[in-house]
Amino acid sequence: MSHLIGAPIAMTNLSAQTTVSKESWGITQEGKHVEIYTLTSPRLTVRLATHGARIVGIDAPDATGKRADVVLGYRELASYERDRSTYFGAIVGRYGNRIAKGRFTIDGETYQVPPNNQGHALHGGSTGFDRRVWAAREVPGGVEMTLVSPDGDMGFPGTLTAKLDYTLDGASLHMSYAVTTTKPTVVNLTNHAYFNLAGESSGSIEHHVLTLAASRYTPVDAALIPTGELQSVAGTPFDFREPTALGERIASSHPQMKLGHGYDHNFVVDGEGLRVAARVRDPESGRMLTVTTTEPGVQLYVANFLDGTLTGKTGVKYGRRAGFCLETQHYPDSPNQPAFPSTLLRPGATLRSMTVLTFGAD
Ligand code: BGC
Repeated sequence: MSHLIGAPIAMTNLSAQTTVSKESWGITQEGKHVEIYTLTSPRLTVRLATHGARIVGIDAPDATGKRADVVLGYRELASYERDRSTYFGAIVGRYGNRIAKGRFTIDGETYQVPPNNQGHALHGGSTGFDRRVWAAREVPGGVEMTLVSPDGDMGFPGTLTAKLDYTLDGASLHMSYAVTTTKPTVVNLTNHAYFNLAGESSGSIEHHVLTLAASRYTPVDAALIPTGELQSVAGTPFDFREPTALGERIASSHPQMKLGHGYDHNFVVDGEGLRVAARVRDPESGRMLTVTTTEPGVQLYVANFLDGTLTGKTGVKYGRRAGFCLETQHYPDSPNQPAFPSTLLRPGATLRSMTVLTFGAD
C-alpha cells in the first residue's frame, strides 16, 4: 500500500490573496509578442510565460523562510526558442511523450505526426505546443492560457481548443485543463517543468527523496516506447512506495534502467480521481513538492539527457540529473495501446484534467 494514499489534499481558498501582474518579455523570431505573468501569494511567486504556456520560475521558501527558484530554465525568451530538446517548463502537446512512429488510427483513418525522436513522435511532433504563443487573460488568482490548434496541425485531426488555468492558492499552483475538438482526435497535455528543490542551479537531484503512489509502471523498449505491459514495481528500482532517494538505485543493472538511461518511465498512479501521486523532499533545505492529479499516469524523468551544455538562468550549466520532472499524463503511446486508458477526444465532449503542485518545507 502506498505511503501517500489517504494523504490530505490541501484545497483551500487562498487564491483571493494572490496578486497577478503582467509584463512584456519580448518578441519571438516570428514576431509574436510574449508576456510574463507573475502570480504572487504569501507563500510563492510563480512566473508564467505565454510562450509554451510555460512555468519559467517558482520561488519557494525553505524551512527557515529562505526562498529559492526551484524551476530550471533560462533568463531570456530567445534561449527557450533555441532549445529544441528540454521542453523546460512548457506545456507539451498535442500529445505529451511518445507516439510510436508518429502514427495512429481513429475510426479507420490513419494519421501521421512528424517523427522527431528516433523515428517516433515526441511531445507533439517537431513544432509542438511548447513552441506556440498562447493567448492569455487574467482570471481571479491567476491566468487563463488558450491555444487554438488548427485541423491538421502536426498531422493531428480536428481544430483543438486547449484552455489551461494556472491559479495560485497559497502554497498550491493549480493547473486546470479543458480541451475540445471539432473532429475525433487524441490529446495528452502535461507540464514539463524540471524541479530542483535545493534551487535551480544546485546540481544533481539524486539525494532528493521521492515517494510515488504507484504499484505499477509501463516498461519500455530501447526507443522508450511502452511494451504495453503494466508491470509491478515490487522488488525493482521503480518501487518508490516508501520514501527513497532518487539516486539510491539509479545505477542498478535492471534492464529498464539501462533502457531509460536512468528513470524515464511512466508510472501508473494508484487510485482514481484527484489524489496525491508524488511527494519529493530535498533533505538539505527541507523543501517539499507534492503533486496531486486526476491523471492516470506520471512520467518520472530525471534529466538523464542534460549534459552540461545548456546554461541556466543564473549562469550555471545544467549537468546530468540537474532536475527532475513529474509529468502527470496519460500513458505514452496510448493511441496504439487499446488496453491503456483512452486519449481519444470526440467533438461535443470536454476533456478536463487537473494537476496541483504544492510546495512546503519542514
Ligand atoms: C521524455 C524524455 C525526453 C524528455 C525531453 C521526457 O518527457 O520522457 O525521454 O528526453 O522528455 O526533454
